[in-house]
Amino acid sequence: MQKTIKTIETQLHDQLAHATSLKEVEEIRLAVLGKKGSVTQLLAQMKELSLDDKKAVGPLLQELRQAAEVSINKRRDFLVQQEAQAATVKEQLFDVTVGVSKAQRGHLHPYTHIVEEIQRIFLSMGYEIWDGPEVETDFYNFGALNIPQDHPARDMYDTFWTDAAGHLLRTHTSTVQIRAMQERKPPIAGIAPGRTFRHEAVDASHDYQFMQCEGLFIDKNVTVGHLFATAQTFLKALFEKDTLDIRIRPGFFPFVEPGFEIDMRCVFCKNGCSVCKQSTWIEVFPGGMVHPNVLKAGGIDPDQYAGFAFGFGLTRLAMLKYGIDDIRLLYSGKLKFLEQF
Ligand code: PHE
Repeated sequence: MQKTIKTIETQLHDQLAHATSLKEVEEIRLAVLGKKGSVTQLLAQMKELSLDDKKAVGPLLQELRQAAEVSINKRRDFLVQQEAQAATVKEQLFDVTVGVSKAQRGHLHPYTHIVEEIQRIFLSMGYEIWDGPEVETDFYNFGALNIPQDHPARDMYDTFWTDAAGHLLRTHTSTVQIRAMQERKPPIAGIAPGRTFRHEAVDASHDYQFMQCEGLFIDKNVTVGHLFATAQTFLKALFEKDTLDIRIRPGFFPFVEPGFEIDMRCVFCKNGCSVCKQSTWIEVFPGGMVHPNVLKAGGIDPDQYAGFAFGFGLTRLAMLKYGIDDIRLLYSGKLKFLEQF
Protein backbone atom coordinates (compact mmCIF):
# COMPACT_ATOMS: atom_id res chain seq x y z
CA MET A 1 0.00 0.00 0.00
CA GLN A 2 2.80 2.40 0.84
CA LYS A 3 4.28 1.69 -2.54
CA THR A 4 0.98 2.47 -4.26
CA ILE A 5 0.78 5.72 -2.35
CA LYS A 6 4.24 6.71 -3.56
CA THR A 7 3.37 5.82 -7.17
CA ILE A 8 0.14 7.83 -7.05
CA GLU A 9 2.07 10.76 -5.66
CA THR A 10 4.76 10.78 -8.36
CA GLN A 11 2.23 10.15 -11.13
CA LEU A 12 0.08 12.99 -9.91
CA HIS A 13 2.96 15.44 -9.90
CA ASP A 14 4.05 14.33 -13.29
CA GLN A 15 0.56 14.63 -14.80
CA LEU A 16 -0.09 18.01 -13.21
CA ALA A 17 3.18 19.38 -14.54
CA HIS A 18 2.06 18.44 -18.05
CA ALA A 19 -1.53 19.66 -17.75
CA THR A 20 -1.98 22.80 -19.83
CA SER A 21 -5.73 23.32 -19.55
CA LEU A 22 -8.26 23.55 -16.74
CA LYS A 23 -10.11 20.64 -18.29
CA GLU A 24 -7.07 18.41 -17.99
CA VAL A 25 -6.59 19.44 -14.35
CA GLU A 26 -10.20 18.56 -13.62
CA GLU A 27 -9.76 15.14 -15.24
CA ILE A 28 -6.70 14.51 -13.07
CA ARG A 29 -8.62 15.56 -9.95
CA LEU A 30 -11.43 13.14 -10.75
CA ALA A 31 -8.94 10.33 -11.40
CA VAL A 32 -7.38 10.84 -7.97
CA LEU A 33 -9.96 12.38 -5.63
CA GLY A 34 -13.24 11.70 -7.48
CA LYS A 35 -15.74 9.07 -6.31
CA LYS A 36 -13.86 6.41 -8.20
CA GLY A 37 -10.49 8.12 -7.88
CA SER A 38 -7.41 6.18 -6.85
CA VAL A 39 -7.06 7.85 -3.42
CA THR A 40 -10.76 7.56 -2.67
CA GLN A 41 -10.56 3.87 -3.44
CA LEU A 42 -7.55 3.38 -1.21
CA LEU A 43 -9.36 5.14 1.62
CA ALA A 44 -12.29 2.76 1.10
CA GLN A 45 -9.96 -0.23 1.33
CA MET A 46 -8.71 0.96 4.76
CA LYS A 47 -11.49 -0.74 6.66
CA GLU A 48 -10.22 -4.12 5.53
CA LEU A 49 -6.79 -3.50 7.07
CA SER A 50 -5.57 -4.63 10.48
CA LEU A 51 -5.38 -2.03 13.19
CA ASP A 52 -1.61 -1.79 12.93
CA ASP A 53 -1.70 -1.33 9.21
CA LYS A 54 -4.43 1.27 9.62
CA LYS A 55 -2.19 3.20 11.96
CA ALA A 56 0.73 3.01 9.58
CA VAL A 57 -1.09 3.75 6.31
CA GLY A 58 -3.92 6.03 7.52
CA PRO A 59 -1.84 9.18 8.11
CA LEU A 60 0.06 8.60 4.86
CA LEU A 61 -3.19 8.41 2.89
CA GLN A 62 -4.59 11.51 4.56
CA GLU A 63 -1.38 13.31 3.82
CA LEU A 64 -1.55 12.19 0.21
CA ARG A 65 -5.13 13.38 -0.13
CA GLN A 66 -4.33 16.78 1.31
CA ALA A 67 -1.16 17.13 -0.71
CA ALA A 68 -3.05 16.12 -3.85
CA GLU A 69 -5.71 18.75 -3.20
CA VAL A 70 -3.09 21.43 -2.65
CA SER A 71 -1.12 20.54 -5.79
CA ILE A 72 -4.25 20.37 -7.96
CA ASN A 73 -5.48 23.76 -6.69
CA LYS A 74 -2.05 25.25 -7.23
CA ARG A 75 -1.92 24.03 -10.80
CA ARG A 76 -5.46 25.28 -11.43
CA ASP A 77 -4.67 28.73 -10.00
CA PHE A 78 -1.56 28.87 -12.12
CA LEU A 79 -3.45 28.06 -15.32
CA VAL A 80 -6.24 30.56 -14.54
CA GLN A 81 -3.66 33.25 -14.04
CA GLN A 82 -1.84 32.32 -17.23
CA GLU A 83 -5.07 32.50 -19.22
CA ALA A 84 -5.87 35.93 -17.81
CA GLN A 85 -2.40 37.14 -18.71
CA ALA A 86 -2.76 35.83 -22.25
CA ALA A 87 -6.10 37.64 -22.58
CA THR A 88 -4.54 40.89 -21.42
CA VAL A 89 -1.69 40.56 -23.88
CA LYS A 90 -4.18 39.79 -26.65
CA GLU A 91 -6.12 42.89 -25.71
CA GLN A 92 -2.97 45.01 -25.71
CA LEU A 93 -1.95 43.67 -29.07
CA PHE A 94 -5.42 44.24 -30.57
CA ASP A 95 -4.87 46.73 -33.37
CA VAL A 96 -7.94 48.85 -34.01
CA THR A 97 -6.28 50.36 -37.07
CA VAL A 98 -5.93 47.11 -38.97
CA GLY A 99 -8.08 47.20 -42.13
CA VAL A 100 -11.13 44.99 -42.22
CA SER A 101 -11.75 42.64 -45.09
CA LYS A 102 -13.58 44.38 -47.92
CA ALA A 103 -17.30 44.55 -47.24
CA GLN A 104 -19.72 45.43 -50.02
CA ARG A 105 -20.74 49.06 -49.69
CA GLY A 106 -23.24 51.25 -51.44
CA HIS A 107 -22.13 53.99 -53.82
CA LEU A 108 -23.63 57.26 -54.90
CA HIS A 109 -24.62 57.28 -58.55
CA PRO A 110 -22.55 59.62 -60.77
CA TYR A 111 -25.72 61.67 -61.36
CA THR A 112 -26.15 62.11 -57.61
CA HIS A 113 -22.51 63.17 -57.32
CA ILE A 114 -22.78 65.75 -60.05
CA VAL A 115 -26.13 67.12 -58.85
CA GLU A 116 -24.65 67.61 -55.39
CA GLU A 117 -21.62 69.33 -56.89
CA ILE A 118 -23.75 71.62 -59.09
CA GLN A 119 -26.00 72.52 -56.16
CA ARG A 120 -22.97 73.31 -54.01
CA ILE A 121 -21.60 75.67 -56.67
CA PHE A 122 -24.88 77.52 -57.29
CA LEU A 123 -25.74 77.72 -53.58
CA SER A 124 -22.38 79.43 -53.10
CA MET A 125 -23.51 82.02 -55.68
CA GLY A 126 -26.72 82.67 -53.76
CA TYR A 127 -29.08 80.57 -55.89
CA GLU A 128 -32.01 78.56 -54.52
CA ILE A 129 -32.67 74.91 -55.41
CA TRP A 130 -36.08 74.27 -56.98
CA ASP A 131 -38.03 71.17 -57.85
CA GLY A 132 -40.91 70.61 -60.27
CA PRO A 133 -43.20 67.83 -61.47
CA GLU A 134 -42.07 65.34 -64.13
CA VAL A 135 -45.58 64.98 -65.51
CA GLU A 136 -46.44 68.42 -66.83
CA THR A 137 -49.10 70.24 -68.78
CA ASP A 138 -48.75 71.62 -72.28
CA PHE A 139 -48.82 75.10 -70.74
CA TYR A 140 -45.70 74.74 -68.59
CA ASN A 141 -43.70 72.69 -71.09
CA PHE A 142 -44.62 74.69 -74.23
CA GLY A 143 -47.29 77.40 -74.10
CA ALA A 144 -45.84 79.57 -71.35
CA LEU A 145 -42.38 79.13 -72.88
CA ASN A 146 -43.44 80.95 -76.03
CA ILE A 147 -44.04 77.73 -77.98
CA PRO A 148 -47.73 77.93 -78.88
CA GLN A 149 -49.69 75.09 -80.54
CA ASP A 150 -48.43 74.35 -84.07
CA HIS A 151 -45.19 76.23 -83.48
CA PRO A 152 -42.48 74.44 -85.49
CA ALA A 153 -40.16 74.50 -82.45
CA ARG A 154 -42.28 71.69 -80.96
CA ASP A 155 -40.40 69.46 -83.39
CA MET A 156 -37.25 70.05 -81.31
CA TYR A 157 -38.88 68.10 -78.52
CA ASP A 158 -40.07 64.58 -79.32
CA THR A 159 -42.67 64.36 -76.63
CA PHE A 160 -44.10 61.48 -74.63
CA TRP A 161 -47.78 62.39 -74.30
CA THR A 162 -49.85 60.72 -71.61
CA ASP A 163 -53.40 59.40 -71.89
CA ALA A 164 -54.63 62.41 -69.90
CA ALA A 165 -55.35 65.20 -72.40
CA GLY A 166 -52.75 67.97 -72.44
CA HIS A 167 -50.40 66.12 -70.07
CA LEU A 168 -46.90 65.01 -71.00
CA LEU A 169 -43.57 63.93 -69.55
CA ARG A 170 -41.60 67.16 -69.42
CA THR A 171 -39.12 67.41 -72.29
CA HIS A 172 -36.95 69.90 -70.42
CA THR A 173 -36.60 71.49 -67.01
CA SER A 174 -37.57 74.91 -68.42
CA THR A 175 -41.05 74.16 -67.03
CA VAL A 176 -39.70 75.10 -63.60
CA GLN A 177 -38.85 78.62 -64.83
CA ILE A 178 -42.56 79.42 -65.14
CA ARG A 179 -43.50 77.83 -61.82
CA ALA A 180 -40.68 79.73 -60.07
CA MET A 181 -41.77 83.08 -61.55
CA GLN A 182 -45.39 82.46 -60.58
CA GLU A 183 -44.44 81.75 -56.99
CA ARG A 184 -41.87 84.51 -56.44
CA LYS A 185 -41.17 88.18 -56.90
CA PRO A 186 -37.85 89.40 -58.37
CA PRO A 187 -35.00 89.29 -57.63
CA ILE A 188 -35.18 85.59 -58.44
CA ALA A 189 -32.21 83.22 -58.65
CA GLY A 190 -32.49 79.45 -58.64
CA ILE A 191 -31.62 76.19 -60.30
CA ALA A 192 -33.80 73.14 -60.87
CA PRO A 193 -31.99 69.87 -61.53
CA GLY A 194 -34.24 67.00 -62.59
CA ARG A 195 -35.28 64.22 -64.89
CA THR A 196 -36.50 64.93 -68.42
CA PHE A 197 -37.90 62.70 -71.17
CA ARG A 198 -37.78 62.64 -74.94
CA HIS A 199 -39.02 60.07 -77.40
CA GLU A 200 -35.61 59.17 -78.82
CA ALA A 201 -33.87 56.02 -80.02
CA VAL A 202 -31.24 54.94 -77.52
CA ASP A 203 -27.60 54.87 -78.63
CA ALA A 204 -24.19 55.60 -77.07
CA SER A 205 -24.98 59.30 -76.69
CA HIS A 206 -28.81 59.48 -76.57
CA ASP A 207 -31.30 58.17 -74.06
CA TYR A 208 -35.06 58.68 -73.75
CA GLN A 209 -34.68 59.89 -70.19
CA PHE A 210 -31.90 62.17 -69.05
CA MET A 211 -31.12 64.81 -66.48
CA GLN A 212 -31.05 68.54 -66.99
CA CYS A 213 -30.39 71.47 -64.76
CA GLU A 214 -32.33 74.67 -65.35
CA GLY A 215 -31.19 78.04 -64.11
CA LEU A 216 -33.08 81.31 -63.87
CA PHE A 217 -31.94 84.74 -62.78
CA ILE A 218 -34.26 87.77 -62.86
CA ASP A 219 -33.66 91.27 -61.59
CA LYS A 220 -33.45 94.84 -62.82
CA ASN A 221 -30.69 95.59 -65.35
CA VAL A 222 -29.60 92.01 -65.98
CA THR A 223 -27.51 91.64 -69.14
CA VAL A 224 -25.92 88.90 -71.24
CA GLY A 225 -22.67 89.72 -69.43
CA HIS A 226 -24.18 88.26 -66.26
CA LEU A 227 -25.11 85.08 -68.13
CA PHE A 228 -21.62 84.62 -69.59
CA ALA A 229 -19.93 85.31 -66.24
CA THR A 230 -22.23 82.84 -64.52
CA ALA A 231 -21.50 80.15 -67.11
CA GLN A 232 -17.78 80.69 -66.81
CA THR A 233 -17.75 80.75 -63.01
CA PHE A 234 -19.83 77.60 -62.84
CA LEU A 235 -17.78 75.63 -65.39
CA LYS A 236 -14.50 76.66 -63.77
CA ALA A 237 -15.75 75.44 -60.39
CA LEU A 238 -17.17 72.19 -61.76
CA PHE A 239 -14.05 71.24 -63.66
CA GLU A 240 -11.73 72.67 -60.99
CA LYS A 241 -9.89 75.00 -63.37
CA ASP A 242 -8.44 78.38 -62.42
CA THR A 243 -9.03 79.69 -65.90
CA LEU A 244 -11.41 78.37 -68.52
CA ASP A 245 -12.20 80.01 -71.85
CA ILE A 246 -15.78 80.04 -73.01
CA ARG A 247 -17.04 80.67 -76.53
CA ILE A 248 -20.43 82.07 -77.37
CA ARG A 249 -22.42 81.19 -80.46
CA PRO A 250 -25.96 82.14 -81.39
CA GLY A 251 -28.54 79.46 -80.57
CA PHE A 252 -32.27 79.29 -81.04
CA PHE A 253 -34.78 78.58 -78.30
CA PRO A 254 -38.23 80.22 -78.49
CA PHE A 255 -38.15 81.13 -74.78
CA VAL A 256 -34.97 83.25 -74.94
CA GLU A 257 -34.03 86.27 -77.02
CA PRO A 258 -31.19 86.45 -77.80
CA GLY A 259 -30.32 82.78 -77.36
CA PHE A 260 -26.83 81.27 -77.10
CA GLU A 261 -24.87 78.09 -77.16
CA ILE A 262 -22.00 78.46 -74.73
CA ASP A 263 -19.01 76.20 -75.35
CA MET A 264 -16.10 75.64 -73.03
CA ARG A 265 -12.50 74.98 -73.95
CA CYS A 266 -11.86 71.22 -73.95
CA VAL A 267 -10.63 70.17 -70.51
CA PHE A 268 -8.78 67.15 -71.93
CA CYS A 269 -6.49 68.60 -74.59
CA LYS A 270 -4.80 71.68 -76.04
CA ASN A 271 -4.79 70.87 -79.73
CA GLY A 272 -7.87 68.73 -80.31
CA CYS A 273 -8.87 65.22 -79.23
CA SER A 274 -11.67 62.72 -79.80
CA VAL A 275 -13.81 64.17 -76.98
CA CYS A 276 -13.93 67.65 -78.56
CA LYS A 277 -13.93 66.16 -82.06
CA GLN A 278 -10.61 67.95 -82.80
CA SER A 279 -12.23 71.38 -82.31
CA THR A 280 -10.88 72.13 -78.77
CA TRP A 281 -14.40 73.32 -77.87
CA ILE A 282 -17.20 71.42 -76.12
CA GLU A 283 -20.83 72.50 -76.25
CA VAL A 284 -22.16 72.48 -72.70
CA PHE A 285 -24.33 75.40 -71.74
CA PRO A 286 -27.35 76.58 -73.75
CA GLY A 287 -28.92 79.78 -72.46
CA GLY A 288 -30.16 83.24 -73.25
CA MET A 289 -32.09 86.27 -72.09
CA VAL A 290 -35.60 85.35 -70.96
CA HIS A 291 -38.09 86.25 -73.72
CA PRO A 292 -40.55 89.01 -72.74
CA ASN A 293 -43.47 86.67 -73.51
CA VAL A 294 -42.08 84.19 -70.99
CA LEU A 295 -41.70 86.85 -68.31
CA LYS A 296 -45.32 87.85 -68.95
CA ALA A 297 -46.50 84.21 -68.71
CA GLY A 298 -44.72 84.04 -65.34
CA GLY A 299 -46.43 87.22 -64.16
CA ILE A 300 -43.38 89.50 -64.38
CA ASP A 301 -43.34 92.89 -66.11
CA PRO A 302 -40.77 92.77 -68.96
CA ASP A 303 -40.51 96.58 -68.95
CA GLN A 304 -39.18 96.54 -65.40
CA TYR A 305 -37.25 93.31 -65.21
CA ALA A 306 -34.88 91.28 -67.32
CA GLY A 307 -33.32 87.92 -66.75
CA PHE A 308 -31.29 85.10 -68.14
CA ALA A 309 -32.00 81.40 -68.23
CA PHE A 310 -29.94 78.37 -69.02
CA GLY A 311 -30.61 74.65 -69.16
CA PHE A 312 -27.75 72.22 -69.53
CA GLY A 313 -27.75 68.45 -69.71
CA LEU A 314 -26.15 66.67 -66.78
CA THR A 315 -25.24 63.66 -68.88
CA ARG A 316 -22.66 65.46 -70.97
CA LEU A 317 -21.15 67.11 -67.90
CA ALA A 318 -21.06 63.83 -65.92
CA MET A 319 -19.45 62.03 -68.84
CA LEU A 320 -16.83 64.79 -69.18
CA LYS A 321 -16.18 65.06 -65.46
CA TYR A 322 -15.89 61.33 -64.80
CA GLY A 323 -14.59 60.16 -68.19
CA ILE A 324 -17.64 57.98 -69.02
CA ASP A 325 -17.83 57.11 -72.70
CA ASP A 326 -21.24 55.43 -73.03
CA ILE A 327 -24.44 57.09 -71.83
CA ARG A 328 -26.11 53.69 -71.37
CA LEU A 329 -23.80 52.92 -68.43
CA LEU A 330 -25.46 55.70 -66.43
CA TYR A 331 -28.71 53.72 -66.16
CA SER A 332 -27.32 50.23 -66.49
CA GLY A 333 -27.14 49.41 -62.77
CA LYS A 334 -23.86 47.61 -63.50
CA LEU A 335 -22.11 47.29 -60.15
CA LYS A 336 -18.63 47.12 -61.70
CA PHE A 337 -19.29 50.55 -63.19
CA LEU A 338 -21.05 52.09 -60.21
CA GLU A 339 -18.48 50.89 -57.68
CA GLN A 340 -15.96 53.31 -59.13
CA PHE A 341 -17.82 56.30 -57.73
N1 PHE B 1 -34.72 73.93 -72.40
C1 PHE B 1 -33.72 73.95 -73.44
C2 PHE B 1 -33.54 72.53 -73.99
O1 PHE B 1 -33.77 71.60 -73.28
C3 PHE B 1 -32.41 74.46 -72.92
C4 PHE B 1 -32.45 75.90 -72.55
C5 PHE B 1 -32.88 76.28 -71.28
C6 PHE B 1 -32.04 76.88 -73.44
C7 PHE B 1 -32.92 77.63 -70.94
C8 PHE B 1 -32.09 78.21 -73.12
C9 PHE B 1 -32.52 78.57 -71.86
O2 PHE B 1 -33.21 72.35 -75.13
